[in-house]
Amino acid sequence: ATHADLKGLAILVTAGPTVEDIDPVRFVSNGSTGKMGYAIAAAAVLRGAEVTLVSGPTHLTAPSGVKLVSVRSTEQMQDAVLSALPHVDVVIGAAAPVDFRPAERFDRKWKKSDGLPHVQWVQTPDILAAVRSRKQAQQTVVGFAAETNDVVENARRKVVQKDLDFVVANQIGEEGAGFGTDTNHVVFVHRDKTQPLPMMSKSAVADSILDHVKSIHRSKRQI
Ligand code: C5P
Repeated sequence: ATHADLKGLAILVTAGPTVEDIDPVRFVSNGSTGKMGYAIAAAAVLRGAEVTLVSGPTHLTAPSGVKLVSVRSTEQMQDAVLSALPHVDVVIGAAAPVDFRPAERFDRKWKKSDGLPHVQWVQTPDILAAVRSRKQAQQTVVGFAAETNDVVENARRKVVQKDLDFVVANQIGEEGAGFGTDTNHVVFVHRDKTQPLPMMSKSAVADSILDHVKSIHRSKRQI
């Protein structure tokens, strides 16, 4: 990573979980801490990129120099991403958006004495799928995949379905990889090739992702 080697590049990073409210005190979410996305945002800023960080609720402090857009639900995250999309060169979807939400949210707290709530679930939007249909050819889009099995095969399906430049895939359940850890063990999965990386700190993974993005973005601009 050379100093300021990403100057002139505008990068949008999504990070953290989303939260879907059931009532004023209860919600559905997941164990994403945002560490990977924040590490990418921090590394990109250090390397001179212009960074927008669209983040669900986390305990992390946004790296200085990033433009932080804080959101809660998957729909809010999608709105923030789509409104920034025309102004960026690269989208890196490191967030773990919740894929379903209650069809309606109770206005008051559901009491235990009310019995069990009947919650109907509806699907939330797939943000990278929405990006797919709106992006320009020269924009680079990177996804993440957390898989417990058939990591490469499942990641490749995501590359194709969401028309991504590549997916950063990691095996969850492996010690030192995935949610909440400071290290990560990933493989870059393209349509027709894979590149395994050794176990590294999340900040080293972030720099590797940015190196990869930089070379893909350069080759697109030469066409
Ligand atoms: O389809 P799946 O959730 O396994 O794919 C993971 C990738 O898709 C991640 O990059 C994640 O940020 C993105 N994603 C999304 N919107 C969703 C769910 C996942 O953009 N609703």
